[in-house]
Amino acid sequence: MDVTALTEPASIDLSEPELWNVPYDERDAVFAVLRDQQPIHFSPERDFGPMPAGPGYYSLTTMHDVLYASKNPKIFGSSAGATSIADLPPEFLDFFGGMINMDDPKHARQRKIVSAAFTPKMLRQVEDQVQIVAKAVVADIASKGECDFVTDVAARLPLEIICQMMGVPEDKYQYVFERSNVILGAGDPEYVGEIGEDEMVGALLVAGGELAALMEEMAADRKGNPTDDLTSALVNGEVDGETLSQSDLNSFFILLLVAGNETTRNAISHGLVMLTRNPEQRDAWQADFDGLAQTAVEEIVRWASPVIHMRRTLMEDHELSGHQFTKGDKVVLWYSSANRDATAFENPGEFDIRRTNNHHVGFGGPGPHFCLGANLARREITVMFRELFEQVPDIRAVGEPDYLPSNFVNGIKHLRAEFTPTP
Ligand code: HEM
Repeated sequence: MDVTALTEPASIDLSEPELWNVPYDERDAVFAVLRDQQPIHFSPERDFGPMPAGPGYYSLTTMHDVLYASKNPKIFGSSAGATSIADLPPEFLDFFGGMINMDDPKHARQRKIVSAAFTPKMLRQVEDQVQIVAKAVVADIASKGECDFVTDVAARLPLEIICQMMGVPEDKYQYVFERSNVILGAGDPEYVGEIGEDEMVGALLVAGGELAALMEEMAADRKGNPTDDLTSALVNGEVDGETLSQSDLNSFFILLLVAGNETTRNAISHGLVMLTRNPEQRDAWQADFDGLAQTAVEEIVRWASPVIHMRRTLMEDHELSGHQFTKGDKVVLWYSSANRDATAFENPGEFDIRRTNNHHVGFGGPGPHFCLGANLARREITVMFRELFEQVPDIRAVGEPDYLPSNFVNGIKHLRAEFTPTP
């Protein structure tokens, strides 16, 4: 698709699947037209398998409007329908109705219970684990001289960390990985086979059901035999007399897997692509790793915007930036577009690991749903690059990344990398 031909908002339909086959850097030209000419823009929806098209959605493309919606959750709610563009059909709610799709007071209660389980002691343990796993993952490739950076490196760290946090048995990691791929890559034949949209819905439900069954097994075990994992803390913990139901536990597990896995691995993969394309920045970071790690990691997340959008629904009539919304309207917060907004960033199209005042919305905007795993993700990205620079210092991406066609996850499925092998 030639996106440079789309110079008028009227010619832009963000539901056009072909647009999502175009690499992000090129696609931003389309969002730039919207940011400049029609920052709040309407697109129709399409049928999705057995689910008929919804009423369409308004896109928020500027930093100002994305922040406004994030900060006003009573007006821009997350529970009506879902945070995906299509409403979740009721049979999905058991598996995918986690707290990301809730509003207060239910959201606040759940977040409190879950946050109580993320104790400083648990997070310290996780941080130690991140170091151990990252070292081992890089050591596994170090003597080979080349690898598929996504599957051999980037994907392994976040998956193993979440599985370890939750206490998933090691022989089930691959099982969990495959099912979380189906959930986030349902539009891609590589993950679900050549199937139609009707079957895609079935594949999602099967993957969700299988992960829920695994969680039920683990929860039943930890009720009687608590260990120091997160599952034990969640099944045995309570806040203000409240506990999580089995269905809450299942959907939280699935939320952690999908929210924590694909996002972090894509940030790491985009990071390697950008450091390869910008060798002077890579040299600078390698020369002063600790001094630049904090700004470099934020820039990787801004640049990658691993979560492209989240949806909200108008809970009441409301005017924003001159647009009159009506209760029930669907609104999509395009984090990827806000992260390239020239009113928020100097030279937004430049990748700059020294960028300061980098108030990006890669982890969502300020508000009740701000990413629960942001600090863990920052840690994983930092430790992974430190290990790469130490063990395979000349690692570089080779050829074009194989992108995931998706309007939700800015994914890289495969990325060839080469380096001087070390014994
Ligand atoms: C670079 C990596 C990551 C990115 C870009 C990312 C992005 C996001 C975004 C944009 C949201 C906001 C959702 C909304 O406003 O509706 C979010 C929420 C969330 N994230 Fe992350 N995330 C990352 C890593 C993680 C990790 C490692 C975990 C956990 C292990 C995690 C767990 C969650 C959870 C549980 C929520 C829902 C919070 C709520 O609704 O209160 N994320 N994330």
